[in-house]
Amino acid sequence: MRALTYHGKMDVRVDTHPDPAIVNPRDAIIEITSTAICGSDLHLFDAVIPGVLKGDILGHEFMGIVVETGRDSTLQKGQRVVVPFTISCGQCFHCQKQQFSACDNSNPVENQDLTQPLYGHPMSGAFGYSHLTGGYPGGQADYVRVPFSDVGPIVIPDGLDDEQVLFLSDILPTGWMAADNADIEPGDTVVVWGAGPVGLFCAQSARIMGAEQVIVIDHYPHRLDLARGLGCKIIDYSQTSVLEALMEMTGGIGADAVIDAVGMESHGWANFNLVDTLKQKIGIGADRGGALRQAILACRKGGRVSMPGVYGGMLDKFPLGAFMEKGLTLKTGQTHVQKYSHDLLRRIQEGEIDTTFLISHRLSLEDAPHGYDQFRNNQNEWTKVILKPGMEKAKTTTVKAEGSHA
Ligand SMILES: NC(=O)c1ccc[n+]([C@@H]2O[C@H](COP(=O)([O-])OP(=O)(O)OC[C@H]3O[C@@H](n4cnc5c(N)ncnc54)[C@H](O)[C@@H]3O)[C@@H](O)[C@H]2O)c1
Ligand SMILES: [Zn+2]
Ligand SMILES: [Zn+2]
Repeated sequence: MRALTYHGKMDVRVDTHPDPAIVNPRDAIIEITSTAICGSDLHLFDAVIPGVLKGDILGHEFMGIVVETGRDSTLQKGQRVVVPFTISCGQCFHCQKQQFSACDNSNPVENQDLTQPLYGHPMSGAFGYSHLTGGYPGGQADYVRVPFSDVGPIVIPDGLDDEQVLFLSDILPTGWMAADNADIEPGDTVVVWGAGPVGLFCAQSARIMGAEQVIVIDHYPHRLDLARGLGCKIIDYSQTSVLEALMEMTGGIGADAVIDAVGMESHGWANFNLVDTLKQKIGIGADRGGALRQAILACRKGGRVSMPGVYGGMLDKFPLGAFMEKGLTLKTGQTHVQKYSHDLLRRIQEGEIDTTFLISHRLSLEDAPHGYDQFRNNQNEWTKVILKPGMEKAKTTTVKAEGSHA
């Protein structure tokens, strides 16, 4: 089969790999119909997350048709499913608490000492996301093996297109959980850093959950336009002093809840971010924390910080004093996708949530390397890339979402 393969920093290629086969009784094999490139994939592409090896297959946002099932899978051949990026057994202590991204059984034993010294515990399994999370082949491919297929995949009823439901695999529940973690109350002002796919879904979810004012911060005009289209106010941080503007917009109080949907590759030339950038470049620091630091300063006393953005290491210059003295709380984590899948599918079916506005480009699998390059380097226009393994190369790249300038 064909699969998008990691070859090194900013070097991914479509190579031929053996087709996956059933390994365990709970496995299923899925033929991929649609798969997306995520901001989290860019952390791998940029080589700021360790444990990705040459030859690894990437991709953790995917859906397709069940073509083979193990004897204990509850899926049936021919069913259309969306697969969560988190691999979860459904039975361990954490899965029983619906903390699916903390599953204790999905990361093979031989990988566990990779993160245990740094985090105190091994991470759970995820598709296509380095050997820290199990080294599972990802879904930017013709086929993928899905372990614990009786727990993760959600069966999609007829009448819904791939593009309406694909984001149930990650970014839609991620935006939803981040807004949930912000403990929104009626009348709240919620501020979101980052108008990427995750930030936009955080903003959309915050509005559905009753926030009175949602403010989205970025520096890309088209991405900010999409936020405006969701009914949000916007701040272009390259034009405006963010902290001053937010104090003005909140009557001098600050935001009730702040959401960092940027993560470890924060842009900008703020002093601390510059130091983080240099440390990241020479390999003595993993994270650029500019957005998180600003979010903590902008949060009102007694407010809430939600952090869906991914971080990997030991961030220094964390404003711990501000955090403590203002009495803030922080909630974060890889998303417990399975906890939200059914509720979000229902909201899509009922027309309450539409995620298709985000899609800017649809490419063939062969064009995935071009998609990575553009999603990284042309972020204003390339808001979300969908790869369709069934699409011919010649028909690719210029298919645009309505409203996109690309
Ligand atoms: N917790 C989870 O389970 C989970 C799931 C998916 C993605 N993520 C993470 O969420 C983050 C966002 O993902 P994405 O797909 O939207 O990524 P993305 O790279 O497409 O978007 C990030 C956006 O942040 C903006 N930005 C950068 N620095 C900024 C700053 N200082 N202030 C304001 N905006 C800034 C960028 O311009 C960009 O538009 C990533 O860290 C990703 O790894 C987490
Ligand atoms: Zn993702
Ligand atoms: Zn588990």
